Amino acid sequence: MMGDLLQFQEVKKYFPVKRSLVEGLFGVKPRHVRAVDGVTFGIQEGEVFVLVGESGSGKTTLGKLGLRVYVPTSGRVVFDGKAIAELKGDELKEFKRSSQMVYQDPVAALNPRVRVGDAVAEPLGFHGIGTKEEQREKAFKMMKRVGFDPPEEFYSRFPHELSGGQRQRVVIARALILGPKFVVADEPVAMLDVSIRAQILKLLFDLKKEMSLTLLIITHDIAIAKYFADHVGIMYLGQLVERAERGEMFRNPMHPYTKALFSSVPIPDPEANKKRMIIKGEIPSAITPPQGCRFHPRCPFVFDRCRTEEPALVRRSEGHLVSCHLYDEAGREAEKAAA
Ligand SMILES: Nc1ncnc2c1ncn2[C@@H]1O[C@H](COP(=O)(O)OP(=O)(O)OP(=O)(O)O)[C@@H](O)[C@H]1O
Ligand SMILES: [Mg+2]
Repeated sequence: MMGDLLQFQEVKKYFPVKRSLVEGLFGVKPRHVRAVDGVTFGIQEGEVFVLVGESGSGKTTLGKLGLRVYVPTSGRVVFDGKAIAELKGDELKEFKRSSQMVYQDPVAALNPRVRVGDAVAEPLGFHGIGTKEEQREKAFKMMKRVGFDPPEEFYSRFPHELSGGQRQRVVIARALILGPKFVVADEPVAMLDVSIRAQILKLLFDLKKEMSLTLLIITHDIAIAKYFADHVGIMYLGQLVERAERGEMFRNPMHPYTKALFSSVPIPDPEANKKRMIIKGEIPSAITPPQGCRFHPRCPFVFDRCRTEEPALVRRSEGHLVSCHLYDEAGREAEKAAA
């Protein structure tokens, strides 16, 4: 098995919340949004890691921490054995070349006044790779690879002259033209029509194989994890609550939040539907997360310990990590019964 290309080690990212004038006058202490709050896991070289979680759980922030768009408040992000916050000069440049992001919204990601071919070629210019002519040649090739055939016909168009799917192909070409090792795709198909989502996902996975990429996909959509992931990570309120290999995760989800998330997908079977677990309430504030286990106010299995003690992410079987007291208690009960 290959090693980790990227590791998050106890990573936290807190954003300051602006105080109102009145709060300032009354000396109210500055508060923080704990967007990512102590996350530890690795992404293996060559794998597809799918990170799933509700809105506001910190997925995008974590993706940006992985690319050094954000610097952690504490903890470390290690890429290819090196802490990325400490990279400088050529090493930093090389890291920036070898890690890229595919954004959710291709309209926002593309400058409306730049021709799409030039947008694809632009990163080569930033990194001073090749002559103008060579950059154009490479952009043609990359455009062809993402499905523009013949690329000449599309090169000089502006983003608004393309369909949503075509624009996302441009965004993918632009992210891949530098030959990165690691790509974060943040909700890569969420803004597209349902009918073309599968095509764009397939393109991403074909390119992943061809170019030996390591892919971190961020999504609300459990189906993407189900069909494409090697490993799945579940985020809740700034923390990773469960991580497992795909088959294991769907056969044996352990965290009550994961179970609820999976059972929120409609199943065409009335009997199975009766057993569905519905999560109560809203996701709490990331400024003042609940004490103890962050999921406890919404958890149907809550007991005393959950309200006071934060569960650690513990390995429950090969490669399956879960942060939930239920398994400690259950484990102890089982031990007692066996004794
Ligand atoms: N630059 C920022 N400044 C202040 N707060 C931020 C910033 N970025 C994110 N947050 C806050 O951090 C939390 C996590 O946000 P993030 O965008 O990472 O979540 P997400 O899981 O990607 O959500 P979504 O599924 O809606 O994209 C949210 O409460 C958000 O409001
Ligand atoms: Mg997001």
